[in-house]
Amino acid sequence: MADRNPLRLGVNVDHVATLRNARGGYHPDPVRAARAAIAAGAHGITAHLREDRRHIVDLDVERLMTDIAAPLNLEMAATGEMIGIAQRLKPHAVCLVPEKRTERTTEGGLDVVAGGEKLRDAVKVLSAHSRVSLFIAPDTEQIEASAKARAAVIELHTGTWCEAVINSDERGAVDEFRRLAEGARLAASLGLEVHAGHGLDFDTAELIATLPEIAELNIGHYMMGEAIFVGLDAVIKNMLAAMARGRARSGATA
Ligand code: PXP
Repeated sequence: MADRNPLRLGVNVDHVATLRNARGGYHPDPVRAARAAIAAGAHGITAHLREDRRHIVDLDVERLMTDIAAPLNLEMAATGEMIGIAQRLKPHAVCLVPEKRTERTTEGGLDVVAGGEKLRDAVKVLSAHSRVSLFIAPDTEQIEASAKARAAVIELHTGTWCEAVINSDERGAVDEFRRLAEGARLAASLGLEVHAGHGLDFDTAELIATLPEIAELNIGHYMMGEAIFVGLDAVIKNMLAAMARGRARSGATA
C-alpha cells in the first residue's frame, strides 16, 4: 500500500568536504558521497555553500547539480552573492540560513521577523526557480513571519533539542520537543511544508519522525562520523530504518 505520509532523508555532505579540505586536493569527494547516499536510499542531498567556503566550494555545488540526479537542497545565507549563484544554478531547493564567520556550524535559526522586506524579497526572487525554505527555531512569531514571507517550506532547528537530549537535560528536552511539535502543527496549518534538522542522530531522528507534519529530515555530521566506523551505505540504511520506526509510531503511514 502507498505511503500516505512519506518522510524524506536529505543527506548533508558538507563534512566530506571538511575532511577533503583538511589536506586540500580531491579526496574524499563530496559528490561521490552524495552518489553513495542516493544509491543507499536517501532522497536528496544538502550542501551549505558558506561565504568563507570552509567546506563546500562552488565547484562542488555545480557537480552536485550536474552529476547527481536526486534533488539538491542548497543551504546559503541570503546575500547578493549567494542569491546570484542560486539564480544561475537553480537548485531544486534553497534553504536560507543565518551565517556568522566565527561560528563552527549554523548556531541559531534565521530571524525572519527582523529580516523584513529584504528577506521577503529574497524569498520572492528565489521562489522563481527553487522551493525556498527558511531555517528557523520553533517560535510562533518566526513561523508566522515565514508564512507571511511566502516561503514554501520551513526547516525547524532541532539543535537545541538534540543538545538537551545529549546532555541528559530531561526537562529541557521535553520542553523543546513540545515546542517542535507545536511549531510543526502551526506551520502545517499555515500551509508550510515542514522539514527539520541539525544535530540529529539515530535516536533523535526516530523521535522527530513521530511528528506527522514533518516531511523531510536533513542530517549530516552524525552520519558522516558514523560512516567512519560502518560505512556510508550502512549508516544511510540504518537512518532510514530509524525514521521508518518513528513514522510507524506516529500512526501516519498506511
Ligand atoms: N539543516 C541545516 C539548515 C543546517 O545548517 C545543517 C548543518 O549544516 C543541517 C541541517 C545538518 O546538521 P547536522 O550536520 O548537525 O546533521
